[in-house]
Amino acid sequence: MNAADLIRFVEACISTGENEATQLPPDILKLHSYSSPKIRHLFQSLCSFDECSYLEGGCFLGGTTLSAAWTNRGRFMALDDYSYHEEVSKARTRLPARLERYKEHCTIEFIEGDLWKTIERLPDDSVNVWFYDAGHTEAETAYAFCKPKRILQSPCVVIVDDYRWPKVQKGVAAGLELGGWTVHRQWEMESPGVQYGGREGWWNGLWIGVLTK
Ligand SMILES: C[S@@+](CC[C@H](N)C(=O)[O-])C[C@H]1O[C@@H](n2cnc3c(N)ncnc32)[C@H](O)[C@@H]1O
Repeated sequence: MNAADLIRFVEACISTGENEATQLPPDILKLHSYSSPKIRHLFQSLCSFDECSYLEGGCFLGGTTLSAAWTNRGRFMALDDYSYHEEVSKARTRLPARLERYKEHCTIEFIEGDLWKTIERLPDDSVNVWFYDAGHTEAETAYAFCKPKRILQSPCVVIVDDYRWPKVQKGVAAGLELGGWTVHRQWEMESPGVQYGGREGWWNGLWIGVLTK
């Protein structure tokens, strides 16, 4: 897809997410995750093209990863180092069991370890949908536009979670500039009035961009 086609495609997927209109089954929608139903439907739709090569930095229990991969035909990779807190270290045993449970419906390559180091081992131009949901400092968010640039295709879709936080907004702006990206279109998805975890809206806010190198 060229950038114009990709923009049209993402717009349609956002509308599908807004209307919660994919075939994602209730058990996937109910999986414990730091995301909302709209986000899960969006990911299911966004990853439905055959050439999709999805990478998620910070997958926790795989709720967003499974939503992206469910019955879709592309390539799906998920990274986590279980560094956050106690709940996350429990994910070390729960995530493999979940991936096993859904293996007839999707294949996800899970790589445990620091995502920045893992990215160094991935091939050039190998990812076209990059979802960053790991550390949410300004610096880490900006780095998410710089370190992975080599492995991202042009054009690509980049998504950043927790965009409601000013530090994430600053990180996205800094990352776009430092990474030298051309932004063809960007969307700021909100959960109006919600402090954190808006299950009716777009969780804690989501930034989506169609970018070229
Ligand atoms: C908010 S959770 C991810 C939630 C998941 N995407 C979802 O929506 O359900 C953030 C995850 O990022 C992981 N993480 C933070 N820094 C990381 C790093 N440098 N490398 C790999 N994983 C990291 C944490 O262990 C945690 O599981």
